[in-house]
Amino acid sequence: MAINTLTGKVVIITGASEGIGRALAMVMAREGCQLVISARNETRLASLALEIAHYGPAPFVFAADVSSAEQCQALVAATVAYYGRLDILINNAGMTMWSRFDELTQLSVLDDIMRVNYLGPAYLTHAALPHLKASEGQVVVVASVAGLTGVPTRSGYAASKHAVIGFFDSLRIELADDNVAVTVVCPDFVVSQIHKRALDGAGKPLGKSPMQEAKILTAEQCAEMMLPVIAMRERLLITSLRGRLGRWLKLIAPRLIDKIARRAIASGH
Ligand SMILES: NC(=O)c1ccc[n+]([C@@H]2O[C@H](COP(=O)([O-])OP(=O)(O)OC[C@H]3O[C@@H](n4cnc5c(N)ncnc54)[C@H](OP(=O)(O)O)[C@@H]3O)[C@@H](O)[C@H]2O)c1
Repeated sequence: MAINTLTGKVVIITGASEGIGRALAMVMAREGCQLVISARNETRLASLALEIAHYGPAPFVFAADVSSAEQCQALVAATVAYYGRLDILINNAGMTMWSRFDELTQLSVLDDIMRVNYLGPAYLTHAALPHLKASEGQVVVVASVAGLTGVPTRSGYAASKHAVIGFFDSLRIELADDNVAVTVVCPDFVVSQIHKRALDGAGKPLGKSPMQEAKILTAEQCAEMMLPVIAMRERLLITSLRGRLGRWLKLIAPRLIDKIARRAIASGH
């Protein structure tokens, strides 16, 4: 597989301080990418930068909140000032919820999720686009299987992931003549911080993960699956068999896919 096409590429990864983004930064550094690692937590970013510097070029660290259009612009400007170009933008930062909609008492949960999961990638991609056109580069978004079908306790999250998939599927068509690739990644459950940081109905983090973590993908496994898909500039990765089958089941047996989603949340895997 042509993973070596990634060597030397200038890559921004958002949400690099934890979980999938952190694991992806490690594997992309291994492939010789010139990384910009971003998130809000500067201490976690600094510790990742040290780890990466053991076996690859030291990454450029830039702290930013993707829900701010100004900070997204600053991240892109700093990247181009530092490396002189941008080849791949990976919109990975995200957050989730864990509450039935009828138990939601803080409607701001819906705003927060939409700002980070949908508006963040839109703002950042808008700032990056002139540079991605110049490099005939690639934009990647880490969406979710919850962007392909409904998931109970995740209504606001599923809405944000459906939005981001619709957005990037539209952008792919617009950018075809510019030779900028658009890759949508839909992970199924992955071990990360997102489950314990999920907002409950009152807008407070759950504090512990309700997932059966031994039964789901690790962040490292997810990152290894993403690597060739990004290198080959493919349009879509769905990490699980039920996710891939689910797209067809939704057309021919929609009640069955609802049942599978209900069971996945109830069992935590
Ligand atoms: N884990 C799963 O089961 C799963 C499944 C499907 C899809 N996904 C998606 O995968 C992506 C990565 O999630 P993860 O599971 O790796 O979660 P995670 O461990 O909680 O990591 C989320 C990352 O996003 C960053 N982040 C959150 N809000 C941000 C903001 N406003 N601005 C900038 N960075 C922000 C966090 O860093 P700071 O707090 O330092 O900012 C952290 O680095 C998300 O888009 C998520 O929706 C995850």
